[in-house]
Amino acid sequence: MADVRPVSSVGAGQDLVVDDLVKVFPGDVYAVNHVSLTVHQGTFTTLLGPSGCGKTTTLNCIAGLEQPDGGRISVGSAVLTDVARRIVLPPERRNLGMVFQSYALWPHMTVYDNLAFGLKLHKVPGPEIRKRISEVLELVGLANLAQRYPFQLSGGQQQRVALARAVVAQPRVLLLDEPLSNLDAKVREQARTATCSSTRRRKRSTSAPRPCSWPASSARPRSCLPS
Ligand SMILES: Nc1ncnc2c1ncn2[C@@H]1O[C@H](COP(=O)(O)OP(=O)(O)OP(=O)(O)O)[C@@H](O)[C@H]1O
Ligand SMILES: [Mg+2]
Repeated sequence: MADVRPVSSVGAGQDLVVDDLVKVFPGDVYAVNHVSLTVHQGTFTTLLGPSGCGKTTTLNCIAGLEQPDGGRISVGSAVLTDVARRIVLPPERRNLGMVFQSYALWPHMTVYDNLAFGLKLHKVPGPEIRKRISEVLELVGLANLAQRYPFQLSGGQQQRVALARAVVAQPRVLLLDEPLSNLDAKVREQARTATCSSTRRRKRSTSAPRPCSWPASSARPRSCLPS
């Protein structure tokens, strides 16, 4: 990605702050070229740019799946990455949720178990797990498909399960890599509304890239445009 307009260099509350991020792939490919942006707590921000400009790489650096070559990433007072100080927190210690361009569902688990898996790992009590899953499946319109396996679902339904799985974990930051691209217009609108209302209710920060050609979102996200 070329430059994203800097918004702020100082974090407040649980704001996600990316400061001067650089990621260079072999062959001198500057996938992320000195990018700075702030996603304020409780808001939804879209990274907007053409294919190959570095949106996924930026999200992967925030999630800890790629190691950047320069810059800092923090959420509130927690430093996730600081290249100069050699701080790189592993993905599992970042308390972030991510929905990938491919959905990465567990194929051998039902919809319900896909959602419950992470909650059980984090020792969330059973009644709380059942309550959260039933609420979030209702939100994404899949309440009647909880016992299906991923192979028994359409692509759009699988995409909504991936979104539900990220939302149900209640992470402090939700990273969405074009998570609604397989949905028709009506369902996409429902999923977008569900994600935004969950973001506001839980005062979470959400960041999602989309290509420039996508229709404008009724969720009115703040967009960061490559300059
Ligand atoms: N592992 C890699 N090795 C070398 N180059 C890579 C690697 N991963 C990505 N790139 C390059 O980095 C640049 C940014 O890729 P990235 O996947 O972040 O783009 P994107 O903005 O998400 O694109 P799209 O909208 O197509 O998903 C591209 O030029 C891509 O070819
Ligand atoms: Mg991408």
